[in-house]
Amino acid sequence: MKGVLICGGSGTRLKPLTDITNKSLLPVYDKPLIEYPLNVLLKAGIHDIMVITGAEHMDQIAAYLGSGASRGCHFSFCVQDKPKGIAQALGLAEAFAAGDSVCAILGDNVFFDDLSAPIKSFTNGAHLFLKEVHDPERFGVATMTNGIITNIEEKPKSPTTNLAVTGCYVYDNRCFGFIRTMKPSKRGELEITDVSDWYVQQGQAKAMTLIKDWVDAGTFESLFKAAELVRADKQAATMPV
Ligand code: G1P
Repeated sequence: MKGVLICGGSGTRLKPLTDITNKSLLPVYDKPLIEYPLNVLLKAGIHDIMVITGAEHMDQIAAYLGSGASRGCHFSFCVQDKPKGIAQALGLAEAFAAGDSVCAILGDNVFFDDLSAPIKSFTNGAHLFLKEVHDPERFGVATMTNGIITNIEEKPKSPTTNLAVTGCYVYDNRCFGFIRTMKPSKRGELEITDVSDWYVQQGQAKAMTLIKDWVDAGTFESLFKAAELVRADKQAATMPV
């Protein structure tokens, strides 16, 4: 399985911080944000990783990550010329994936659960990770029955469940064939939710619900919350039992 780390978007909600650097390089307590999704991939044993980002701050991301040798992995870097959506970014990794399945993860998502087991045991279809939230209308929202997603919608006005689709997507290689056929949504993007929906329609999208915290750190509040959670987690880990 190949890893795709997507650090796209223009980070509008985090301006002026994102005038200086990519959202994924902003600090979350003691590390740049990108370390957290990257660690999900490394922990799942994925060592061949393509990092996709806009041209503006690619130099900083590449300078920070380097070749990957110091982490025992290999990074490839790919520019997404315009912020045309997560699915468009993923489509850029088709040749890199070279027939393999992919674990695509968003550069601004901080997970506290261990996602390794389902990623390692993935065979085909799609596997997503859901999290119960109080503001589902901000996210992709799913309905799940016995571990199979039966419905998925991007930022619905009246969500029918409170299960947000988090930014870690495991797909078999057929996702690329579908992405080639996609048309932009109303907001002019190729939506990752439409890729997931292609698997949902075939009854091939599995999911698990996360137990621990999950943060999409795309706003000041959520970026701050991510830092607080990381700090609390670190303090708990060093506490004598
Ligand atoms: C994106 C996806 C959304 C998903 C979210 C997770 O939204 O479109 O389905 O729930 O990531 O972080 P965005 O944060 O780009 O608005």
